[in-house]
Amino acid sequence: MSPRLKLRVRNSGLIRLQRFSDSPDGNLFIAEAGKQVPFEIKRIYFINSLANKNAVRGKHAHRRLEQAIFCLNGSFTLYIDDGRTTQRILMNDPACGIRIGPMLWHTMSGFTCDCVILVLASAWFEPADYIRDYAEFLRETRAARSA
Ligand code: TYD
Repeated sequence: MSPRLKLRVRNSGLIRLQRFSDSPDGNLFIAEAGKQVPFEIKRIYFINSLANKNAVRGKHAHRRLEQAIFCLNGSFTLYIDDGRTTQRILMNDPACGIRIGPMLWHTMSGFTCDCVILVLASAWFEPADYIRDYAEFLRETRAARSA
């Protein structure tokens, strides 16, 4: 991730964790709801064992959910799309996460096999909050803009 990264996509943002380096005894990273993370955290999930380097995950948007995504180890590429603007972000720094707010189409790919992804989410799992069809996503973003 470039240190000069600027998020241009709506409902996204850079989340910088507090970090204590105790080299060579490890690094400590801290995420607190309402401080570094701009929402209350109600769910945490993580993804590992990304053995298929052609894997593509995500390919959906959420209507209401707020999420913060981190790459704890290895790297991957995150694509975010608000229906008008898209951005491609190399996720390779555990101290820097990305806010994926409502109505952001997101896709993850290019995983290294040691990649570990952590996601903090603002709500419990709710299938009805997902938009899995890109045409439907564009319809809903256009409708929201013209409302
Ligand atoms: P999905 O959100 O599509 O994963 P990704 O965006 O990483 O590709 O979820 C994959 C499957 O896991 C899907 O069947 C729903 C289920 N799931 C839950 O049951 N609870 C959860 O909190 C999450 C994130 C997924």
